Amino acid sequence: MDFPFSDALKRLPEQFFAGLVHKVSLLEQEGHDIIKLGQGNPDLPTPQHIVDKLKEASDNPAYHKYSPFRGFDFLRQAVCDFYAREYKVELDPETEVAIMFGSKTGLVEISQCLLNPGDLALLPDPGYPDYMSGIELAQARTSLMPLTAALDFLPDYTAITDEDLEEAKLLFLNYPNNPTAATANQAFFDKTVELAKKHQICVLHDFAYGALGYDGKKPQSFLQSEGSKEVGIEMYTLSKTYNMAGWRIAFAVGNASVIESINLIQDHVYVSLFGAMQEAAAYALTSDQICVEELLQTYELRRDAFLGHLRAIGWEVPEPKGTFFVWLPVPKGYTSEAFADLLLEEAHVAVAPGNGFGAYGEGYVRAGLLDSEERLLEAAKRIEKLGIFSKT
Ligand SMILES: Cc1ncc(COP(=O)(O)O)c(C=O)c1O
Repeated sequence: MDFPFSDALKRLPEQFFAGLVHKVSLLEQEGHDIIKLGQGNPDLPTPQHIVDKLKEASDNPAYHKYSPFRGFDFLRQAVCDFYAREYKVELDPETEVAIMFGSKTGLVEISQCLLNPGDLALLPDPGYPDYMSGIELAQARTSLMPLTAALDFLPDYTAITDEDLEEAKLLFLNYPNNPTAATANQAFFDKTVELAKKHQICVLHDFAYGALGYDGKKPQSFLQSEGSKEVGIEMYTLSKTYNMAGWRIAFAVGNASVIESINLIQDHVYVSLFGAMQEAAAYALTSDQICVEELLQTYELRRDAFLGHLRAIGWEVPEPKGTFFVWLPVPKGYTSEAFADLLLEEAHVAVAPGNGFGAYGEGYVRAGLLDSEERLLEAAKRIEKLGIFSKT
């Protein structure tokens, strides 16, 4: 028997990238070697000292029981130590930290926590698709904020109508930004705090790529802006900083009432993460950070190799400021999807068409620097062979 899905499930947006994964797997089944740069899954393993800590901690029988609902005190304290060390931001481990099962979960939960049916959320376009999933589940509405190259992929708050500013309850931001690879500075976040205070909007800053800022420029935390804790929270994941995407661990920090709302929904849906994982995560946050510096260097070398070759063949590509993505303008005469199809079918290089991230992503494709320098160079050479750029 097939049971009908709830209306809430039916409202969920289509998974745009499922189609791409399917196309890639069909070509692979035909025996083609596809260089997969379409997704955002870190390719390198978790640093060994973190894995070793998990192994050791998993022997502790105290962790074989249910964990405390809101996570172990030592992990919430480690999060505070991490923010004090990295951003000089002081946090209260009792009231200003929530432990989460990866930030994808938190990003969907936040709309259930703060939005009623019909409420309005301000959303970047292009943006990470899961923000929309949470909004749809909550039966809320969106007002889209275009991110364009002309404004360094920052939203133009003056372009939002007065009506939308008055109605908006939640504002989603994400810097370093997926998919555009842009970063934000303190002046932008200061302006955001001012806007949020004036219109009583809660700010959700998704800081998933907080560790990944290029050329010595450390990404700015939203919480470094004065007054930010009064108006919002930041979500941080261990997935990208420590290559721990499979471990599913993240946290939210900031405004105590919003943190309480996340903890409250989680009290009902989960018991907290396996204690040994929490110990390993605390260790990751507080032990030597050389692994993070090395990771950043690896992505920089990959970026230089890949973009260097693309530029040499005449593809004018802008420099990413952060994340492990590059946001590539498609050549004239192609849509994002047509160009991504061409790269996949003719060059056997998979990239994500920009329109999958929103209408303002049209005209771009996103590539992840998530394979070795050699493979990225090979991808660029395969693109060269297509003969569509001026210097080929
Ligand atoms: C912008 C952004 N936010 C959040 C996430 C989710 O990360 P996780 O659920 O692994 O914490 C991702 C993952 O790709 C992302 O790109």
